[in-house]
Amino acid sequence: MTDPQTQLVKLEGAGVRKGAEWLVRGVDLSVSPGEIITLIGPNGSGKSTTAKMALGILTPSEGRAVRVPGLKVGYVPQKLTIDWTLPLSVHRFLRLTNHLSVAECTKALEQTGAGRLLNAEMRNLSGGELQRVMLARAIARNPDLLVLDEPVQGVDYAGEIAIYDLISEIRSTMGCGILMISHDLHVVMAAADQVVCLNGHVCCRGTPSDVSKDANYQALFGARAGAALAVYEHHHDHVHLPDGQVRHADGTLCSACPGEHHDHVHDEPHKQTDLSNAG
Ligand SMILES: Nc1ncnc2c1ncn2[C@@H]1O[C@H](COP(=O)(O)OP(=O)(O)OP(=O)(O)O)[C@@H](O)[C@H]1O
Ligand SMILES: [Mg+2]
Repeated sequence: MTDPQTQLVKLEGAGVRKGAEWLVRGVDLSVSPGEIITLIGPNGSGKSTTAKMALGILTPSEGRAVRVPGLKVGYVPQKLTIDWTLPLSVHRFLRLTNHLSVAECTKALEQTGAGRLLNAEMRNLSGGELQRVMLARAIARNPDLLVLDEPVQGVDYAGEIAIYDLISEIRSTMGCGILMISHDLHVVMAAADQVVCLNGHVCCRGTPSDVSKDANYQALFGARAGAALAVYEHHHDHVHLPDGQVRHADGTLCSACPGEHHDHVHDEPHKQTDLSNAG
């Protein structure tokens, strides 16, 4: 299963219909070992539905979903239906659906930086801790394919970066393929090999940088999303005037950018992006 040429899962023209409504249609995508594919798109655009087709939780009404025989998957769902009023320790939670030893639970928690939470109560976990426990549960069985539906929900900005770093690390150390759903467009830039943008169908796809420049993507998310994606590529903040001069934040003019130091302000279109609000 470690052959990077193997497609762990492949959707071909896949779509799901409920009654007369198509939830999503015509999705083509595949995930190979060591690859991170990110699904983005507005609310209700079919991201979770697509992930469920890849997992086999939903059967395509058209097209097909093909998984490698014997594929082991780890899944962090968008929503959990657990009665949090009941006492449930982290290690019991990890063993609800997996036959794991305490040592295996501890190892998985340590991999997600949550080793000290083994005996904690699930209902007392902070948002970021819960996501780390969920990730630990997903990786505990050494999956070939990891499907993460909004893995940073409820996590603060610093925690978000830490979790995306962790996901990249898991990809490198475990070699699994990752299908990730994200609203955090600015962080998609850092982690994904390929982005598939959904809007009831595949709106556009490509490398994060290709997608950020795609007219369909820009129409869907607006110019602000482009600025958010661009921030990892080019972080500068000054105004280039039509005559080629550069106007700094303090109003002074110079004939060119001062080398790599971008200590001045871009007005339009490259607004300085506040990362904490860019998602
Ligand atoms: N079982 C269902 N029956 C009918 N409609 C459904 C069902 N599940 C999802 N839908 C609808 O299908 C559309 C796609 O839902 P989906 O959960 O895939 O969106 P999403 O892109 O994951 O959205 P979000 O960003 O809000 O998580 C939505 O309009 C949703 O209301
Ligand atoms: Mg969803």
